Amino acid sequence: MGYERSVSFITVETLGVLDQEEEDSEGSRPHSPAGKERISAQKGTHLPRSIARQKLGYYPLPAREAERIRSFLAFSQQDTSVLDPCAGTGAALVSITSGVRVVRYAIELDAFRAEEAGKIVDQVIQGNCFDVHCAVESLSLLVLNPPYDHEVSENRNARMERLFTEHTYRWLKPGGVLVLVIPGDGLAECAEVLAVHFRDKAIYRLSEPESSQYKQIVLFGVRRTRREREQLKDRDVQRAKSRLLVLARSYSELPALPDEADRQFAVPPSGPVQLIYRGVPLDELEDLLPTSAAYRQAGRILFAPEVRSTGRPLTPLHGGHVGLLTTSGLLNGIFGDGPDLHVARWESVKVTDRFEETDENEVTTIRERERFAQCLTLVYADGTTAILDEGSRQS
Ligand SMILES: C[S@@+](CC[C@H](N)C(=O)[O-])C[C@H]1O[C@@H](n2cnc3c(N)ncnc32)[C@H](O)[C@@H]1O
Repeated sequence: MGYERSVSFITVETLGVLDQEEEDSEGSRPHSPAGKERISAQKGTHLPRSIARQKLGYYPLPAREAERIRSFLAFSQQDTSVLDPCAGTGAALVSITSGVRVVRYAIELDAFRAEEAGKIVDQVIQGNCFDVHCAVESLSLLVLNPPYDHEVSENRNARMERLFTEHTYRWLKPGGVLVLVIPGDGLAECAEVLAVHFRDKAIYRLSEPESSQYKQIVLFGVRRTRREREQLKDRDVQRAKSRLLVLARSYSELPALPDEADRQFAVPPSGPVQLIYRGVPLDELEDLLPTSAAYRQAGRILFAPEVRSTGRPLTPLHGGHVGLLTTSGLLNGIFGDGPDLHVARWESVKVTDRFEETDENEVTTIRERERFAQCLTLVYADGTTAILDEGSRQS
């Protein structure tokens, strides 16, 4: 078919130093132990389910980068609580805090990875970080490497790094250290919160191939005290933000994270913290759904069989006709034979185009425009899978 030749191919799985307490009342609400018992797992316990591994923006920090980050951190001998709110298997958190006696907390959405993390960190919550509550100003170290994706909903389409940073930075105590791993351009999204709430920021580019592919950077920062924030002048904040916006576009000019740290961040001590999950227990619901009469009724609407039209067209189809039919999903099905035998499925996806303009006063305006594009998923008889979309390229 024509569309097979016109698209490029990618396999699914290939996928410097800046400047020298209010708080979320929700975050400090009393905790509900019942919710916690249901969803969270203490070290060594078995999570309710080990489902197939979901990607969910999973791009683990390369081990070498984690070791380099470790060399930047100086821990005290006293009790210290550290958290990775998007922990994956927990390996990055363990490596970044290796050799010291700390209490490691982790949050991870994917059940499989959460279970893995439960084997090596002290406490894991399997669930959505945005449904987790933690007392503000309680943690010594926050290691944040948020999923690489966009939150897409009817009214909002905000960068994950900003949403995760805004949700979790308050949990750090004043003087606590933030280790933020994001694609370099994500700095622009986080500029406000970083400029206002963090001092002594240092930014490096990650150089391992998996990291440079996504132009990842690491930012170290120390959370300001309330007093330090109050002393900040508007122009200081503006200058720090502008600098972050410039750095967001200068990945290749940033210094690479060195093997031996060229500065140290002192991680302050802290007592134990209590993380509470207030979200929906998804696994439990999944088990209960088949016995729910309401769900059976709704299922008829939610999972209505696709409308299928069959028959022979009166005249041969032109290329344009085929294009319209494929992109509207009406030619989904099985094609080819021999090694080319494959299942093809089209869908519409929402994409966001981002434009940045900087005027003569160094003020950067960021515009985002949403539109729909097409995406084709292919599964070949030999097990090869592929997603062809605008971002696809030869692998
Ligand atoms: C980029 S990976 C980072 C993994 C690990 N921290 C590391 O550095 O290797 C992001 C992780 O966040 C998880 N994740 C995605 N959305 C999440 C959410 N809403 N709450 C908690 N974890 C989430 C993904 O499943 C994935 O494992």
